[in-house]
Amino acid sequence: MMGASASESAYRVLMAVLESRTGQTLSPGRIWRIEMSLKPVMQRHGIADLDALVAALVTSTSRQLLDDTVDAMLNNETFFYRETSVFDDIAGKVLESLRTINADRRRLTIWHCGVSTGQEAYSMAMLIAEQGAKWAGWQVDIVGTDVSHQAIGRARVGLYSQFEIQRGLPVQRMVRWFDQAKDGWIAKADLRRRIDFSVQNMLTDRPPLASAADLIFCRNLLLYFSLPVRKKAFAQLRAAAAPQSFLVLGAGETVLGQTDQFVASPRLRGLYEPADRQLRRSHAGRSIAA
Ligand SMILES: C[S@@+](CC[C@H](N)C(=O)[O-])C[C@H]1O[C@@H](n2cnc3c(N)ncnc32)[C@H](O)[C@@H]1O
Repeated sequence: MMGASASESAYRVLMAVLESRTGQTLSPGRIWRIEMSLKPVMQRHGIADLDALVAALVTSTSRQLLDDTVDAMLNNETFFYRETSVFDDIAGKVLESLRTINADRRRLTIWHCGVSTGQEAYSMAMLIAEQGAKWAGWQVDIVGTDVSHQAIGRARVGLYSQFEIQRGLPVQRMVRWFDQAKDGWIAKADLRRRIDFSVQNMLTDRPPLASAADLIFCRNLLLYFSLPVRKKAFAQLRAAAAPQSFLVLGAGETVLGQTDQFVASPRLRGLYEPADRQLRRSHAGRSIAA
């Protein structure tokens, strides 16, 4: 149901802008929240209402207004160690398997696609750092990307409010890896330097990875894509994945009926592997497919 105070065409334009810039479609349940989400943007840019915002988007050349509008309509919900059991499995069987696969090159690339404000990548970085000696002599690249400029800006700073820091992060980890700041808790430099964050539209831009990804997180992002867009997204993930890699999806997400690029891992429950893994295993090349 559309909001009462703006014209239907304004909503339609805003939804089209969001879809063309990110691939995301708004579920009916989220449409009514558009006006509320965009209020701060309209205030910041001195715009009276949604119709005026749409008019400004059409006539203005302000990149900032467009970025702010799109960012505000995205769902950035995230928290530390979301689905704890996934991280428990990764800390054990998954990383062990990746250590064996990559033992010769001693290199590991982890890509958090749709990382939002960073909690997922920081969760992973803490986990690797705490395994200490196991990874001595390894190059571990952790890369976090998101289409939202604002979310990536926040992820880079690593500053979380009291509410955000308490969501999923055990107290011991909080005091070990974060310093108390005026406005909340900020990731210590030793944690921040372990992750590279950048803005990327996963549907159209190559991921900023120096090497094919061994472990890809793409959680709670694909569910807002239409089926054809989701298929394209899986192809993009596959292009960035090493032949012997793992893909982690959100709890409610699956590859079944969505793509033939990935299949459920026969060895690691809840994870996915490139469908052509068996064939590709014999290939020596590790560069990202074009
Ligand atoms: C709901 S959050 C999930 C964050 C995290 N992965 C988690 O599960 O906690 C989804 C994120 O996907 C991002 N996103 C949406 N469309 C995207 C696209 N086309 N490319 C990259 N990121 C996108 C959104 O900006 C948002 O931050």
